Amino acid sequence: MSTRHFLSLMDMSQDELNYLIKRACELKEITKKGEVYEPLKNKVLGMIFEKSSTRTRVSFEAGMIQLGGGSIFLSPRDTQLGRGEPIEDTARVLSSMLDCVMIRTFAHDVVTTMAKYSNIPIINGLTDLCHPCQLLADMQTYYEHRGNINGKTVAWIGDGNNMANSYILAANQFGFKLNLCTPKGYEPDAKIMDDYKDCYEIIGSPEEAASSADLIVTDVWASMGQEEEQAQREKAFANFQVDDKIMGLADKDAVFMHCLPAHRGEEVSATIIDGPQSIVWDEAENRLHAQKALMEYLLCGKRK
Ligand code: CP
Ligand code: NVA
Repeated sequence: MSTRHFLSLMDMSQDELNYLIKRACELKEITKKGEVYEPLKNKVLGMIFEKSSTRTRVSFEAGMIQLGGGSIFLSPRDTQLGRGEPIEDTARVLSSMLDCVMIRTFAHDVVTTMAKYSNIPIINGLTDLCHPCQLLADMQTYYEHRGNINGKTVAWIGDGNNMANSYILAANQFGFKLNLCTPKGYEPDAKIMDDYKDCYEIIGSPEEAASSADLIVTDVWASMGQEEEQAQREKAFANFQVDDKIMGLADKDAVFMHCLPAHRGEEVSATIIDGPQSIVWDEAENRLHAQKALMEYLLCGKRK
């Protein structure tokens, strides 16, 4: 069997994704009970970070320790990647020493090239195109709080960034209705929009997008690598803050998610992110459980 990678949500079938969500919940319970479960004993994960991270790094590293394995943090500053060693060569070498690699980088073709030259699983820990691990955690979190997301309405309000692209793919894989509301000029990736045009509806105003939604999601206005656009983006996104008015238009049982880090007073008001409908802390914690399920599946297969 050829090596499985997780570069986008489309690398897993709908059945596999649903299995991962359920398994994440089981692994969470095992951890909470304090049970020792170490299926990845002696396995080693390499973690390449070309961008900053708190949640992704800590959840992968803690996850590997809890599953009995270990991990190695690789920054371009200290490896030959930063001095121009080709990703193809790096992939071949890491394949011979490690069991799995997680990579966070800028261009998505770096992860596809890495996967092409690796005979161990490659996991996308965020690229400019998508953030599939975050979506595993988001889907687990919605499931824990509100049950199956299939048939529900999700409103994406804000930038058409890597998270927005991932929500389009998630709408396809998990079967929810997606109201996409982004400022003009800040739409999601054109190819993803074209390939999955049945999976979302473009909505002109945040108010309309939020109306009767079951889940409202947003993200920063300037992603990593776009810091110099901050001022210009603040102007373009001025009417796109998820605040009490927007949340008040959603279904009364609606919840709010944000992958974090968040900027209170920009894409979300403090009243919402710190309010009763926010499930962002569970969402962040679930990165750990969802990625444990993912690594267990990629390295050991289904448990039952
Ligand atoms: N949500 C997320 O990926 O957070 P980090 O950038 O802290 O890893
Ligand atoms: N869109 C954000 C997500 C951070 C987890 C970024 O790419 O910076």
